[in-house]
Amino acid sequence: MGRVALVTGGSRGIGEAISKKLQAEGYTVAATYAGNDEAAAKFTEATGIKTYKWNVADYDSSKAGIEQVEADLGPIDVVVANAGITRDAPFHKMTPQQWNEVVDTNLTGVFNTVHPVWPGMRERKFGRVIVISSINGQKGQFAQVNYAATKSGDLGIVKSLAQEGARAGITANAVCPGYIGTEMVMAVPEKVRESIIGQIPAGRLGEPEEIARCVAFLASDDAGFINGSTISANGGQFFV
Ligand code: CAA
Ligand code: NAP
Repeated sequence: MGRVALVTGGSRGIGEAISKKLQAEGYTVAATYAGNDEAAAKFTEATGIKTYKWNVADYDSSKAGIEQVEADLGPIDVVVANAGITRDAPFHKMTPQQWNEVVDTNLTGVFNTVHPVWPGMRERKFGRVIVISSINGQKGQFAQVNYAATKSGDLGIVKSLAQEGARAGITANAVCPGYIGTEMVMAVPEKVRESIIGQIPAGRLGEPEEIARCVAFLASDDAGFINGSTISANGGQFFV
């Protein structure tokens, strides 16, 4: 197929599964990460996928990083804004720093990732923008005022981009994963995690590959008329 895909946070967790799935589908993939050099090196060794290190919260670094990816691999056809963090705390304990870090990464980070690739997609009259939001952006979550706000905001980005890009052959869609068995969820205290799993009708955490398959579908030509949509993959935990 020869299309180029950029996956932010593509070296670990859900992003790793997305990178591998897109590679298996024939895309040339670039995966970014923030600072975990060891995980990124292991990932490249296992997959041959090139990794790039920059902070999605910084616009200039994102722009420069994306220019480097395009110089190495060619114009980006598919962008998957996946990088994200949690800084959970009940609202009365949440610090401005916890608020700002999550907003800068999960919300501004999506702007910083998509904005530099958007003009090229418009010129070439093709693009796929896929944002990894969350079930908790749909339903809210105790101790996640910051995170839920950003993940709801990501849905607003997608719905607006869908309208702006449609005539230029660009689609923008979101995937809202439920609780998936990555390090992000493993960081939740075990007792709390067990109680969350009890609220999932499927009776288990999701697997990163189950989200990667949604992304691959949205990236494909088969999904050309799907625009501004959200795929929820949460084991029946929440219906929109
Ligand atoms: N609903 C109602 N009450 C809750 C609650 C909930 N979901 N969770 C905790 N509480 C209550 C506790 O029972 C406790 O009550 P008491 O004071 O009466 O004992 C109180 O709230 C918590 O007080 P703590 O002082 O113990 O709270 P803390 O400062 O230690 O914070 C926590 C603990 C951060 C909230 C921890 O419980 C936690 O991490 N919870 C999980 C939050 C969560 O689901 N995060 C998702 C992470 S994964 C992800 O984000 C990926 C994705 O997109 C799905
Ligand atoms: P993860 O295992 O913690 O991996 C996060 C990835 O994002 C890593 O590659 C990390 O790089 C990168 N990253 C974090 N902050 C970054 C930054 N500022 N700049 C660049 N890269 C950054 O997380 P995950 O569970 O796979 O989650 C991936 C996405 O899915 C997130 O947006 C998350 O909110 C969303 N999500 C997750 C779940 C879930 O249950 N796991 C559910 C719904 C939505 P390093 O390796 O360098 O740290």
